[in-house]
Amino acid sequence: MFVTCRIGRQSFASCLLLTICFPVWASAQQKAEEKPDAGIEAKRREVRMLDDLYKGAIVTITEHYVNDKDTIPAGTAFKKLFEAAEAKGWHKVRLLDATGNPYDSENVANDEFEKDAIKQLVAGKPWVESIENRKGTRHLRVLTPIPVVFEKCVMCHDNYADVPKGQAIGALSYLVPIDGPLVSEKAPASIRE
Ligand code: HEC
Repeated sequence: MFVTCRIGRQSFASCLLLTICFPVWASAQQKAEEKPDAGIEAKRREVRMLDDLYKGAIVTITEHYVNDKDTIPAGTAFKKLFEAAEAKGWHKVRLLDATGNPYDSENVANDEFEKDAIKQLVAGKPWVESIENRKGTRHLRVLTPIPVVFEKCVMCHDNYADVPKGQAIGALSYLVPIDGPLVSEKAPASIRE
């Protein structure tokens, strides 16, 4: 570069400019790469909101309306709501057990991501996520913990009585499309890319 710079005043000036500008440009490029993916960030925010709304509603309904074992539990009602949201293509939510003793055998982790995430939630993690590509659409998957909120939960789930306070006894498992339509079912391993 020193040799080129001796050629003339003009080349010296451009050379100087390059020497100053290149590192600035390069560091801007690096910053752009480090910048979080806006699409994923927006979906994380969406899941945080859904999680607060769904759990808040389940707890409020249980507190005010579910007074004995014969009442329809909020969990059952919300599974209907989750089905409706999925049918509309918004997202898919599953209510899962984390104790190994579910009320309904359908409510269990059924793939590697959910099984591993449940272990992490029981160990105290508040959020476990992964990005999954389904038929060309990226999806955000998140599991969040459900602790025993109050004594009323134990009225129907007597196995919760032995769980240490604050430990997850269940989870909500979210699947939210990021940049295309919701693909609820995972392709069989044999045809997955
Ligand atoms: C009136 C009885 C009743 C009460 C009260 C109740 N549940 Fe449930 N819960 C159920 C039933 C029944 C299911 C199965 C629902 C289904 O799959 O349709 C269930 C399912 C669940 C599941 C999914 C795993 C499983 O066991 O199938 C979790 C987690 C859960 N309940 C947590 C709670 C929490 C936390 C509370 C307190 C806020 C609570 N429940 C209060 C009856 C109850």
